[in-house]
Amino acid sequence: MPLRPPAVFIETFGCQMNEYDTELVRSILKDNGYRFTDSADTADVVLLNTCAIRENAHNKVYGHLGALKALKEDKGLVIGVLGCMAQNLKKDLLEENSLIDVLAGPDSYRALPELLEKAAAGRKGMAVDLSEYETYTDITPDRIEGVAAWIAVMRGCDNFCTFCVVPYTRGRERSRELDGVVREAEALAASGCKQVTLLGQNVNSYRDGTHDFADLLLAVAEVRGIERVRFISPHPKDFPEKLLEAVAGHPRICKHIHLPLQTGNDRILQLMDRTYTRAEYLALVDQIRTRCPEIILTTDIIAGFCSETDEEFADTEDLLREVEYHLAYIFQYSERKNTIAARKYADDVPAGVKAARVTKLVEFQRGISLKKNREMIGKTVEVLVEGEGKRSRDQWMGRTDGNIVAVFSKTGNGLKPGSLTSVRITDATVTTLYGESV
Ligand code: 5AD
Ligand code: SF4
Repeated sequence: MPLRPPAVFIETFGCQMNEYDTELVRSILKDNGYRFTDSADTADVVLLNTCAIRENAHNKVYGHLGALKALKEDKGLVIGVLGCMAQNLKKDLLEENSLIDVLAGPDSYRALPELLEKAAAGRKGMAVDLSEYETYTDITPDRIEGVAAWIAVMRGCDNFCTFCVVPYTRGRERSRELDGVVREAEALAASGCKQVTLLGQNVNSYRDGTHDFADLLLAVAEVRGIERVRFISPHPKDFPEKLLEAVAGHPRICKHIHLPLQTGNDRILQLMDRTYTRAEYLALVDQIRTRCPEIILTTDIIAGFCSETDEEFADTEDLLREVEYHLAYIFQYSERKNTIAARKYADDVPAGVKAARVTKLVEFQRGISLKKNREMIGKTVEVLVEGEGKRSRDQWMGRTDGNIVAVFSKTGNGLKPGSLTSVRITDATVTTLYGESV
C-alpha cells in the first residue's frame, strides 16, 4: 500500500440495486484503506459499476471508458469495470478493451481489494464467479446519510423471462434473513433515516426459510422511526392475498406498487415467458384496487419484442388505456447476449418500428399521467420532505406516499428534510405536483 491511501472514484449506471452495490463496494474498499474522490481527474482508481439491461447501457459505459483513455496514459490510472456488464461479457471485455485492468461481477466484490492491489502492480485480473449464497449481509453499506435508504433483501432472479439478462448477470435468487434486514433498518432509523426501500430483482419472491415477503415488509414497517417502507421490483406472479393485505392495511407501507407488465398481448407474454396472461394480470390489478383504492400503480413496458405485430402492439396500448397507470417506463426491446430470446427468436422488428412504437406509447402515457396528476388538484396529501427544490431554494421537494414528486413553497413552515407534512395540491404537470404546506 503506498504512503498516501489511493483515491477511488466510482461511477454508477443502471438500477437501484447497482446504487446499493456501489455503497457495498465503498464499504469494502474503505475497510481496506482506500479513500474516495468525486472525479476521475483526482482519482488513482476509477470504477464503473455497470448495467447490461439494454444495448444503450453498454454503449454508455464504452463512452465513459473512452473518455478515461487520456487519464490512463497520463498518470497510470487503474480502471475497473464492475457489475452486470462485467459479469455478462467476462473475459471478452477484459481482452477486447486494453484500458480495463480489473473486472468484478456482482457476487465478487469481496475480491476487489486484492484485484486492485494486483492491478496497481501491473497485473490485470477478474472475478466473475456467481454465488448461490452471497448476500453481503455482514457488510454495512457506506451510505450518504439522508432521509431515505435502500436495503437489498434478496439478490438474483430465477424467472428467466426470455428477454432478460439479469438471471445471467446476477445469478440465482437468495434472500437475507429477516433479522439482519430489521437490524439494518433499526440502525438506519437511529441515524435519522425516515424511509426504507426494500430492494430485490424479484423482491416479492423473498423467503428466508421462515418468513415470506409480507412478513418482512411488516417487520420493517414496525421499526421505530421508519415512517415509510417501499419495495421494488416485484413480479406479478408473487402477489398473495397476505401481501396485498400488508400493503393495504399498514399505515407505513406505501400505497405504491410497481407492477411490470411488459406487454398486453397474450402471445407475446408467452414468448417472454412472463407466466401470466393479460386476463390474469388485469384480475390482479382489479384485486389490488379493490383492496386498496388509493393505490398508485406504475409499470414497465417493452415495445417491439421478437415478432410483435402492429395488432399485438395495439393490445399494449389498449391495456395502458384500461389500467391508467400513474407512470409507465417504456423501452424498446434490445436483444441481450445469452438470453433465451437471443437463442430462440429472431430480433425481427425493425429499429424504426420499435422506436415509433415507443414514441407512441410514451405520448399516450404522458396524457394519462397528466390527467392522473391533475385529478389530485384540490386534494391534501402527505409529503416526506427530501430536500430543496431543483428550481428554487425557496421550495421544498418531497414525495407523496404514492411516490409522486411534490414541490411546495418553504415560507414559514419550519420544515426540514425528513419532515412529514400535509400539502394541498394546487397545480400539476406530467411528472410533478405543486402545492402549499397546510
Ligand atoms: N430490452 C428492453 N427492455 C428490457 N427490460 C429488461 N430487459 C430488457 C431488454 N432486453 C426492461 C423490462 C424490465 C425493466 C427493468 O427493463 O421492462 O422490467
Ligand atoms: Fe442493469 Fe439489471 Fe444489472 Fe440492474 S440488475 S444493473 S438493471 S442489468
